Amino acid sequence: MKTLITEEQIREKVLNLAEIIANDNKSGKIHVLFVLKGAFIFCADVIRALCSHNLDVTVDYLIAESYSGKESAGEVKTYINIDIKGKEVLLLEDIIDTGRTIKTLKEKLLEMHPEHLKTICLLDKPSRRIVDIDADYVGFKIKDKFVVGYGLDYDEKFRYLPYIAEIE
Ligand code: IMP
Ligand code: MG
Repeated sequence: MKTLITEEQIREKVLNLAEIIANDNKSGKIHVLFVLKGAFIFCADVIRALCSHNLDVTVDYLIAESYSGKESAGEVKTYINIDIKGKEVLLLEDIIDTGRTIKTLKEKLLEMHPEHLKTICLLDKPSRRIVDIDADYVGFKIKDKFVVGYGLDYDEKFRYLPYIAEIE
């Protein structure tokens, strides 16, 4: 395994993104929806970075599953049990790969009539895209490498790493 993005780089990026998100915010409130499981650590850091910008931050979660091992299975299974009507929502993902997960979630959330819906991902692999979608806020664009750490797993392992590593 090789370190791709250090703890320090992630910390700086999270602070930058939080500042941009806070400046774009319209209502003074933000409802952060993170996607389990991979996004839980990124979410924890983003909501704490947002709190220094005088925003009223609330948090909820969704579940989406498409991966087994290192391969995307194609079909995206979701579990969504939330109310976002009229809310300013930020959908927070760990990584966008084929784009299927974020596209499926976005479509389902828009049917629930949020006031605004924006998306953020820590990592983006544009060269892997199968469906046409991009996040509004992107941490790092990376090459087509399988990565772990900072919440991301390989068969449930390595989520605890404080940095992003690539599996060679
Ligand atoms: P997509 O639907 O293909 O965009 O896949 C998104 C999901 O696949 C992410 O939420 C991750 O859970 C998982 N995933 C994609 N690439 C990686 C990777 O390099 N490491 C770990 N998980 C990944
Ligand atoms: Mg995920």
